[in-house]
Amino acid sequence: MTGILEGKSIAVTGAGRGIGRAVALQCAAEGAHVVVADFGVGMHGEEPTSEVADAVVEEIREGGHHAIAIADSVTEMAAGERIVQSAIDNWGRIDGVVCVAGILRERMLFNMSEDDWDAVIATHLKGTFTLFRAASTVMRAQKSGSLVGFTSAAFQASVAQANYSAAKGGIVSLVRSAAAGLNRYGVRANAVAPIARTRMMAEVPMELPETGEPEDVAPMVTYLLSDLATHITGQIYTVVGGKIAVWNQPHEVRAMFKDGRWTPEEIARRLDATIGQEPMPILAQLEAYRRAAAAAAETGVTPNA
Ligand SMILES: NC(=O)c1ccc[n+]([C@@H]2O[C@H](COP(=O)([O-])OP(=O)(O)OC[C@H]3O[C@@H](n4cnc5c(N)ncnc54)[C@H](O)[C@@H]3O)[C@@H](O)[C@H]2O)c1
Repeated sequence: MTGILEGKSIAVTGAGRGIGRAVALQCAAEGAHVVVADFGVGMHGEEPTSEVADAVVEEIREGGHHAIAIADSVTEMAAGERIVQSAIDNWGRIDGVVCVAGILRERMLFNMSEDDWDAVIATHLKGTFTLFRAASTVMRAQKSGSLVGFTSAAFQASVAQANYSAAKGGIVSLVRSAAAGLNRYGVRANAVAPIARTRMMAEVPMELPETGEPEDVAPMVTYLLSDLATHITGQIYTVVGGKIAVWNQPHEVRAMFKDGRWTPEEIARRLDATIGQEPMPILAQLEAYRRAAAAAAETGVTPNA
């Protein structure tokens, strides 16, 4: 560790376990004062306990570094304010906010309850807003700061996680909007799409083609928080094991025109031959899984066995 976050004050949500914990530990080891914010809930958002955040604070302090625990739910506006304010009250400033807190409620769309939808959107999407909102006021005035959201490749689409996918897509747009709105004040916003072995990954029903450890994700977040990355904003980075990849910015790829308004029939005649559709990779993957499963059923050999 080279102390690249020396003198900085950083809040990490979901810092009690998994990736958030690895980020909090590395930030502290790099010299930052860290607010360890974690509601200490089960995988679906149940049974909160303050012990989870306290344990990481103890670990950081044992290493001779500085941290305080907050066991609030990031779904509350007041919690976002408390988390940011506690950094200011204790260390006089807030330089970085990392929103890692998350839960899962997997259901097919046709079985998803309002509560499954609300809880996941509130934890991931609103839970990023509550922190970004509170921190951006202070960062705008001090003319510096780094906001880091956590998204997932599942933002593209997810079969049984419409709530999670929508929340993660929302975080991508929130991060890009924060980058656009705060750029003139010297405040940056980026997102990380990780894959790492945690209790959350254990819930994913299929084998993932790539994986890594929570500690593999922490260095990229540390970099984004540091003054080495003051030119980086509005970006989404996948981080898994030894791989770091940048995502493209969405843009229109083809257009068709006519003078005046189209009729539905005209659109039907022209669309396929001109702008067509953009391929949706997940549909091809699902088709491949279905074929493999059908072949396995015929031969009695399980795929990946
Ligand atoms: N693990 C992966 O492979 C993977 C893949 C894609 C995206 N992600 C994202 O990375 C982030 C971290 O995932 P993880 O695997 O480390 O999860 P994890 O379950 O190990 O840790 C999440 C932490 O968030 C906390 N939390 C949940 N709700 C909260 C709330 N309302 N307020 C405050 N804290 C709350 C939990 O108590 C828990 O300690 C999540 O946003 C997740 O969606 C993870």
